[in-house]
Amino acid sequence: YTSEQSALIDLYEKASELFSHILLNTKLGEDALQYLKKRGMTEDDIKNFDIGFAAPEDNLLLSFFKEHKIDQHLMAESGLFIESENQTLRDRFFNRIIFPIKDTNGKIVAFSGRSLVKDKNHPKYLNSPETSIFNKGKVLYNFSQARSEIIQQKTVILYEGFMDVIAAHRAAVKNGIATMGTSLTEDHINAIKRVADRVIICFDGDAPGQKAIARAIELLRQSSDLQISVVFIPDNLDPDEYVNQRGTAAFQNLMQQTGESSTSFLLKYDRTGLNLANENDQLEYLKRALKRISSLKDALEQDLYLNQLSDEFKIDKRDLKDQLRESVADRI
Ligand code: UTP
Ligand code: MN
Ligand code: MN
Ligand code: MN
Ligand code: MN
Repeated sequence: YTSEQSALIDLYEKASELFSHILLNTKLGEDALQYLKKRGMTEDDIKNFDIGFAAPEDNLLLSFFKEHKIDQHLMAESGLFIESENQTLRDRFFNRIIFPIKDTNGKIVAFSGRSLVKDKNHPKYLNSPETSIFNKGKVLYNFSQARSEIIQQKTVILYEGFMDVIAAHRAAVKNGIATMGTSLTEDHINAIKRVADRVIICFDGDAPGQKAIARAIELLRQSSDLQISVVFIPDNLDPDEYVNQRGTAAFQNLMQQTGESSTSFLLKYDRTGLNLANENDQLEYLKRALKRISSLKDALEQDLYLNQLSDEFKIDKRDLKDQLRESVADRI
C-alpha cells in the first residue's frame, strides 16, 4: 500500500468502528438493529461481518472525523463524503445499514449501505465510489474471510448479495462470496482460480437471477477451466430468504447436493419463453441446444447431451450430429 492508501484504510477502520458503535450501543441504531434481527441476523453475524449503521442524523461521521482531527484532503479522497461546490463535505451515507467491503488482505477499502427506506429516490444498495484502493471489478465480498474454507473445500460458492453470504455463513456454509452487484470480471475469476477448482453458483431463484446464472457460466467458461455447478433456489426465493424461511438444515441439504451441471442448467434455461408442445418452438429450442452443445470442449460431454436431445425429441442422433457440425461451421 502507498502511504495514502494506508491512511485511507485507517480512516475506514475508524468509520467502521463508529458505524458499529451506532448500531450496537446507541438509541440512534435501535430501529436498524431491530430491522436486522427481524431479518434473522444474530449478534454474531453483526460482529463477524462488522455490520454497522449510518444514522439518519446530520453528518455524524463528519463531526466524528473533525473531532479526531482527520486530514480534510484524506476525507475528501475517501468517498465517504459528498463534496459541494464550495468544498464543504457532508456524509454520503444516511439511514443505511453499513457493510464494510474488505480487500484480499481483509482491510476495509469501501462500504456498501442498504437503505431502510423503500422508494425510488433511495437505491437499495449504495456503494462508496471507487478510489485508488477500491475497484468493484476486483473486490469480492467476504473473500478474505472465506479464503481458508474455500481452499479446504477447493470450492467457492458465488451468491448475488451480501445478505446471502451472511445467511449462508449463519447456516455454517462458510465458503461463500459475492460480487458488488456486478457481473464477474476476469480479475474476479483469476482470484477464484487461485484458491478453488470448483464454483457453485447460487443466485436468486427469480427471473433476473436465472439470467445472471447463464451470464456467470459464460464468463467463467471464457476465462477458466473451473468446474461449474448450479444450485437452484426454489420458489423464487433468494438464499437469504431460503435460510430464514426453510431453516438451516434445509439450506445445508440443498448445498450438499451436487447441484446441476452448468450445461444442464443452460439447456433448461434455453427453454424459457418457449412452448415445447409447438413444433416451431421445438425447432427453435433444438437450434439453441445444438449451439450450446457445439460450444462444449469435451467430446464425451457433447455425446451425453446429444443423447438426451435425441431421446427427448425422438430425433436420430446421426441427424443431430450432422446439425452439430453445421453449427460448429457457422461459428468458424
Ligand atoms: P438483490 O436485489 O437481490 O438484493 O441484489 P439482496 O442481496 O437480496 O438484498 P436484500 O436481501 O433485499 O437486502 C443483489 C445484489 O446486487 C447489488 C447488491 O450487491 C445486492 O446485494 N445491488 C442491488 C446494488 O448494488 N444496488 C441495488 O440497488 C440493488
Ligand atoms: Mn490525493
Ligand atoms: Mn436479486
Ligand atoms: Mn436477492
Ligand atoms: Mn435478499
